[in-house]
Amino acid sequence: MKKIYTLAIDTSCDDTSVAVLCNDRVLANIVSSQIDIHKGWGGVVPNLAKRAHQEMIDSCVDLALKRSGLKDIKKINVIAVTYGPGLAPALEVGVSKAQELALKNNIPLVAVNHMEGHALSVFLKNKVGKNYAKLPSDINKTKFPLLALLVSGGHTELVLVEDFGKYKIIGQTLDDAAGEAFDKIGRMLGLGYPAGAVIARFAEKGNRNAYKLPRPMEHSKNYDFSFSGLKTACLYQTNDLKKELGEKGFAKIIPDYCASVEEAIVDSLIGKTVKAIKEYKPKMLVLGGGVVVNKRLRAKLRKALKALNIPIYFPDKQFCQDNAAMIGLAGYLKFLRGEIVKDIPLLQRKPSLGIEDDN
Ligand code: KG4
Ligand code: ZN
Repeated sequence: MKKIYTLAIDTSCDDTSVAVLCNDRVLANIVSSQIDIHKGWGGVVPNLAKRAHQEMIDSCVDLALKRSGLKDIKKINVIAVTYGPGLAPALEVGVSKAQELALKNNIPLVAVNHMEGHALSVFLKNKVGKNYAKLPSDINKTKFPLLALLVSGGHTELVLVEDFGKYKIIGQTLDDAAGEAFDKIGRMLGLGYPAGAVIARFAEKGNRNAYKLPRPMEHSKNYDFSFSGLKTACLYQTNDLKKELGEKGFAKIIPDYCASVEEAIVDSLIGKTVKAIKEYKPKMLVLGGGVVVNKRLRAKLRKALKALNIPIYFPDKQFCQDNAAMIGLAGYLKFLRGEIVKDIPLLQRKPSLGIEDDN
């Protein structure tokens, strides 16, 4: 098979990431996190993100090329860049760097949807061709349709993948994303930002049935999610508990509270996923997004899918969070399909791009 070298850039949110791939193999994946910049603000500040991306992007490109062993950008066959969805000022940095590199070095450019990257992240292989997610067959032998559950700080979507490049959203959140729910509830509990991993750590030591919390939309007929009702229930309940128990007493119940919150979010995600699997009968379930590192979600999904006899694949932890390697893989497949940007200077970021929009 011909070797295609892809340089990929993702600056959609608060990570500056650049990767180099050879076909579906990751040769280098550099991620410069901005968490320390944003955590004091309780969320990502778009203009601070933009400035940090601008400061880091060139060194990330240089480092990715160096680590890949290619060293020289002239060896790259295609440049892939995230053009949406994401924060407009952040996306702009990656898009203009990709345009500059493509034009200067006369390399074709491919514009990639960030959510397509998350959906394909289980297919990534390491340098020597070993699939990180332990998929049984090669990417070219993938059987469709597959179902993708994408859960991050900004998105919660159930996507039917009819082929690479052919996506249909069958369910999505009507308000907050699952990661956003973890983060907002974590803030109420005084756990800092982002709070998903902290809640998960406390939850390991807690009683999951200690507090009764709603599973919104549990009985609705569609595959949509909603987390704002859970957030509001937590707000009232934590205020009451703080009054009743005082600061010290409240601190003692944090593990039980975190365990109950995690269970409510995980149950909501699994309920709709199982319902969708029964209806659409996909060949497998693949996951993507930052929330997918959650161990409880993985364990409960594995159990639920075993009963349905459907295989499930999780991306390696490094490819759950935002990364350019997944953009490189989606970009490589788009390049093979001939979907390159025709007029490079005219490419614009699309902050609210949907996964169905560039089918
Ligand atoms: O995909 P991602 O890195 O960034 C976005 O594109 O949003 O996801 C970040 C989200 C945050 O909301 C964070 O709280 C959540 O993933 N997260 C977790 C865990 N680790 C990170 N949520 C639940 N359990 C975890 N262990
Ligand atoms: Zn993401």
